[in-house]
Amino acid sequence: MKILFKNAEIVSASETSIKDVLVEDEKIEKIDDNINEKADKEYDLTGKYLLPGVIDAHVHFRTPGYEAKEDWKTGSAAALAGGVTTVFDMPNTKPHTTTLEALAAKREIVARNAKVNYGFFFGGEADNLEDCKEAEGIVGFKVYMGATTGQKALGKKDNIEDLLEDLFANTDRVVAVHAEDEAIMQKHAEVYQGDHTAEVHSLIRNDEVAFTAAKKAIHIAKKYEGRMHICHMSTKKEVELIRKFGGDLITCEVTPHHLFLSIKDYSTHGNFVKVNPPIRGQHDQDILWKAVQDGVVRIIASDHAPHLREEKDVDYWKAPAGVPGVQTTLPLMLNAVNDERLEIQDVVRLLSYGPAKLYGVQSKGAIREGYDADLVVVDMNLMQQVKDKDMKSKCGWSPFSDMYLKGWPEMTFVRGVLGMENGRIVRSEELEGKEVVVS
Ligand code: DOR
Ligand code: ZN
Ligand code: ZN
Repeated sequence: MKILFKNAEIVSASETSIKDVLVEDEKIEKIDDNINEKADKEYDLTGKYLLPGVIDAHVHFRTPGYEAKEDWKTGSAAALAGGVTTVFDMPNTKPHTTTLEALAAKREIVARNAKVNYGFFFGGEADNLEDCKEAEGIVGFKVYMGATTGQKALGKKDNIEDLLEDLFANTDRVVAVHAEDEAIMQKHAEVYQGDHTAEVHSLIRNDEVAFTAAKKAIHIAKKYEGRMHICHMSTKKEVELIRKFGGDLITCEVTPHHLFLSIKDYSTHGNFVKVNPPIRGQHDQDILWKAVQDGVVRIIASDHAPHLREEKDVDYWKAPAGVPGVQTTLPLMLNAVNDERLEIQDVVRLLSYGPAKLYGVQSKGAIREGYDADLVVVDMNLMQQVKDKDMKSKCGWSPFSDMYLKGWPEMTFVRGVLGMENGRIVRSEELEGKEVVVS
């Protein structure tokens, strides 16, 4: 099967250029000024951008154990609709992906159901070092410094250093941390226990909670020269840490909800914007944007964490934290380009090239000859409202609903197969997600 894209403005992490692109089966075969080969399918992309597929390096697709919230069919559909061709799944499923058996079982289910490419995080715990050492093919380890939805704090306060030291010394993958300090947030939870408004979430898990944990993690990574990644960085104080200590060994990611939502949104969304770490004030958000713009932040990932409406629609203390996002990340960032907050190349840097580089993913994250044909056609002029009814996630809602966004993915190809066209999932029987190869 050959697909020819004519007159595409192809985007890399640093520049754009108008080219023809020939795809043969799963790969990008040729990129040139003018390709006149006969193809099975030809698209004239005049006026459109062609981007490498988004690699969302942080999703919770809930399988196994919480399939009522999401499964790989609905999660993949949400990804395809959002221009996402690869996702990395987190280990807080049931059972946790913290044993070799659990990893093998998850691999088996996902291989049968995924319509986008994928990678797995393996949970690092106080007592599973042997399994961590043997967990082959994973993209990285995930360590929870504080408790969060479906997850106790993995490293107890006293042994987090031992745990990280062991992982750094005995394995060679990135250690991604959920950095929130358990002891401080428990203290805050006591102070606010009589308060039932969703706003209290940002006070309990305030910037000190995030900063204290991130500082500790960075200190340990420095000491052992470990490769550490701070997930979902959300505060000015953490940005300052990363500005000081970040680099190739210590990296960070930011989520769209921390860039586009703030504590103002509690009044209209309540528990539907309850997420860990929580949304912040305007000042933190401005500082995050600056760090995203100037390259201190290497990747943007959605932390897609769906929960059903009825689970959210309860008392603050009973509502699970987490918001869906895999479908809306790219449109939000494209809208930011139209708003002149970013260049289109930044979108590729943060959503495709950055994650591929950071996790050592082979043959993805750029439009290059020989690379996988994971591709997204983008229409920068399409203006559309985010609507709950268009969300493909099983949860069926979005914290970004009602926003008007300009710039949307129009077609998504997974290794050469068209899986989404104009918001509709197509040919899903032909699509087959494949586990990424990392080095
Ligand atoms: O809000 C969150 N929800 N933060 C997490 O760290 C986990 C996630 C979930 O799995 O629901
Ligand atoms: Zn987390
Ligand atoms: Zn997460």
